[in-house]
Amino acid sequence: PPGKPPGPLKDTSSKLVNDARHPWKPVRPSDQRGPCPGLNTLASHGWLPRNGIATPAQIITAVQEGYNMENDLARFVTYAAHLVDGNVVTDLLSIGGKSKLTGPAPPPPAIVGGLNTHAVFEGDASNTRSDAFLGNNHEFNETLFDQLVGYANKYGAGKYNVTVAGEFKWRRIQDSIATNPEFNLLSPRIFTVYAEAVFPINFFIDGRQTDRQLDLDDARSFLQNMRFPDDFHRRNGSIGADEMRDIAAIHPINPGRNVGKVNNYVEDPTSAGLADSCKLYSSFVTDIVQKLYPAPTGNLRKALKINLDYFYNSIPVTIPGCAQVFPYGS
Ligand code: HEM
Ligand code: MG
Repeated sequence: PPGKPPGPLKDTSSKLVNDARHPWKPVRPSDQRGPCPGLNTLASHGWLPRNGIATPAQIITAVQEGYNMENDLARFVTYAAHLVDGNVVTDLLSIGGKSKLTGPAPPPPAIVGGLNTHAVFEGDASNTRSDAFLGNNHEFNETLFDQLVGYANKYGAGKYNVTVAGEFKWRRIQDSIATNPEFNLLSPRIFTVYAEAVFPINFFIDGRQTDRQLDLDDARSFLQNMRFPDDFHRRNGSIGADEMRDIAAIHPINPGRNVGKVNNYVEDPTSAGLADSCKLYSSFVTDIVQKLYPAPTGNLRKALKINLDYFYNSIPVTIPGCAQVFPYGS
């Protein structure tokens, strides 16, 4: 059965996390790594299983221990990803591609493809990974990182900060509108595209530093090499992703997608927008999870219900009055 979600850290002070017990090791051919540099790095230091196959509980514990990610956000992101990319019966998720190590998969249309799977969680206009339509959606892309460096030089005096994040994300979105006929910025992507733009500022900066300016060598260390900088201390105090709204506000855009061709971005008012986190939750359950699992039975149904409870219970604190939806009965 699915393991219980871990609670918050008791001690959220900064500490050395690139320590002797968590040495960086190169990826082995059979290890799974994917589109998330935060999780890739934890796996390459042994804060997560080095093979890249983990339970939701292990992921929540590791992002808290390694980066001081706030408990609600850690649970929300982890259960969202696990519900669409993981094996809910065996309680295992690949942080990269599909893997036999997550155990026997439920039948299609379920995917259980790991975090690399496009369109259920991973999406377009990532900072350092290509759109799936245009290329590799999970590996570090040097061309994109070089563009990011250019923006950091132009807008951030050589550092990655909130201003650079806002300007560069706008560029990534404009490039996708112009080159990807399948570009999609509907919920949940309208949220995650900005959340992951603030993660480097909130989590990749050493906890002893307080200016919120990310050094680009340190950025590359995480994004490309999946490696903590030497002597890396995690952030002092837990944090979520609230500053994603500051990034989005620099060049606002409503949820939408290219319909059928490039340069044809059509807004979709039926999608949750950044102001409606409750709809982010409910549409994720009904539009995405339920499409993958239209009529589950037995242990699969049980496991889905438990994981959906864990997902829902990660939100009410921040969204008062958001009702739970029960696609498989309460
Ligand atoms: C991107 C999953 C936590 C940093 C992603 C993506 C996924 C993902 C699926 C790909 C989205 C896309 O770009 O299309 C998760 C899960 C987490 C988690 C399940 C569990 C809590 C973290 C943490 C950090 C982080 C703690 C930072 C320490 C990032 C960054 C990107 C990203 C920076 C964007 C990469 C880029 O294209 O430049 N994550 N993530 N994530 N994640 Fe995570
Ligand atoms: Mg992506």
